[in-house]
Amino acid sequence: MNEFSGLMATYYDELFGTSDTEYAFYRSFLITDDLSLSKKKPPRDSYLDTFSGNKSLVESAGSIRALEIGSGTGQLLIKYVREGFAVDGVDNSQAMINECITKAESDGLDVTVYQQSMDALDLPQRYHTIYVPSCVIQLASDEAELRRIIHSISRHLVPGGRAVISLFMPLPDHTEESFYDKDCSKGKSDLFHVSVNGDRTLEVYCTRRTSHEDASSTYRFDVYQAGVLATQKSYNLRWQMYSLKLISKMLIDESLVAHTWYKDYQQEPLTLEACSSSLDKGNPVCVVVAKKV
Ligand SMILES: C[S@@+](CC[C@H](N)C(=O)[O-])C[C@H]1O[C@@H](n2cnc3c(N)ncnc32)[C@H](O)[C@@H]1O
Repeated sequence: MNEFSGLMATYYDELFGTSDTEYAFYRSFLITDDLSLSKKKPPRDSYLDTFSGNKSLVESAGSIRALEIGSGTGQLLIKYVREGFAVDGVDNSQAMINECITKAESDGLDVTVYQQSMDALDLPQRYHTIYVPSCVIQLASDEAELRRIIHSISRHLVPGGRAVISLFMPLPDHTEESFYDKDCSKGKSDLFHVSVNGDRTLEVYCTRRTSHEDASSTYRFDVYQAGVLATQKSYNLRWQMYSLKLISKMLIDESLVAHTWYKDYQQEPLTLEACSSSLDKGNPVCVVVAKKV
């Protein structure tokens, strides 16, 4: 069970962030209809530089109605809505949605976020683009759930629409260490984050375990008030590894034809094979773009 609730929701933005590259990558799909981004290859290094502040691009993107799955506290969603893009969100955690709505309202923005589970979506409209950032699809606890999620995505796309799905790579040659980030080490809890706000001190300890099948983390939140431990609570998150082959097959079964693969939010599309073989180190992310036929 993945727990994006309570203190995890309250402090989510303090702990986790989406990078500019990630933001710019998904944004590209709000701007262009193309299945492959290479046709819009920007002259400069990042999409961000190229597209930022370009009102006519936002206007011409009017027909691209998008849905973010697992929109959380709205780190991506709110920025896109602020820019004028037509993006809705869906999340199964009311606590995360509340954080998102509160932030949007304080910015004077009106966001639409549905509280539903991604494996049983029943939304009032269909979308041109459905993107699934943060490898959220891998929160599926088994293949049956994964299949239901892909089915839900397909059902909510218009014909010709696109699913943009991020994945971490379940490569057979991944060593355990390759999944650790610098703040978490094997088998013990490490201090992951500390913040002080007036009388309140937050300490978050993370224990992470990884295998070829999954990556699971436990975050323990210790909240001190005036130096005294006031609350302590742990939350578990577990990302399951599914092979690209299995995911490709499920996409096809749901009328989604995998068209382009990207690595680490880079703009150059790769073949599935090239994507797989190049992602042999670190903690890489792969993004598949599939078209609804
Ligand atoms: C890593 S966070 C994503 C953060 C988000 N992209 C952002 O920019 O703030 C994962 C989100 O997926 C949501 N989630 C997990 N399981 C879900 C499910 N079955 N259906 C819908 N959302 C789910 C969690 O509640 C959480 O908000």
